Amino acid sequence: MKFFVDTGDLNEIKDLAATGLLDGVTTNPSLIAKSGRNFIELIGEICEVVDGPVSAEVAATDYETMLAEGRYLAKIAPNVCVKVPLTVDGLKVCKQLSDAGTQVNVTLCFSPAQALLAAKAGATFISPFVGRLDDIGQDGLNLISDIVEIYAAYDHIKTEVLVASIRHPIHLIESAKMGAHVATMPPSVIRQLYSHPLTDKGLAAFVSDWAKTGQTILGNAKAAE
Ligand code: G3P
Repeated sequence: MKFFVDTGDLNEIKDLAATGLLDGVTTNPSLIAKSGRNFIELIGEICEVVDGPVSAEVAATDYETMLAEGRYLAKIAPNVCVKVPLTVDGLKVCKQLSDAGTQVNVTLCFSPAQALLAAKAGATFISPFVGRLDDIGQDGLNLISDIVEIYAAYDHIKTEVLVASIRHPIHLIESAKMGAHVATMPPSVIRQLYSHPLTDKGLAAFVSDWAKTGQTILGNAKAAE
């Protein structure tokens, strides 16, 4: 499963990219506004830090302007993935861009029918929003299960399920059990994945017991030189 980070914070992206476990980045207009950065400059800088897909979302909602924006964004770097909303015009843009070889992420997906349309439009990624469905009392993970099942039934569908609006590690784990291809998570959720109180407790005991031996591993290495 690929891990993307969902943020417009370049320092967070650099920090997570340094782990070697980051496969891509997603942004959206709200995250760009929060960053306070120039959008085009920021996407260019992110693309220099991360080799994988970097989603950059169009701002317009009409076909002509979205297509022009998408073509412009795609020129920033080869790994830009143009993000379009799941609307009639958005999917028309998706078809045009994907036919021209540009990666496209179709966002704001809240139903299996919408996901099927995005696949037909040649989307590289479909982004179903788990947390926002949970927020209105619906089962976000059920949507992931439906889309994964439907896509798996057709060999010709190459669109990857990119689980978005993830709020906690359970969203990730359940999506992974279903076979979703990608998860995009806020930096805080990615950091949560590392944590377990028994890891902390166990490590503290190992460090303490090792100190009692009076040995150092590198001291041994030096002696052997
Ligand atoms: O970027 C798309 C999605 O991940 C947004 O999540 O937390 O704003 O619902 P959220």
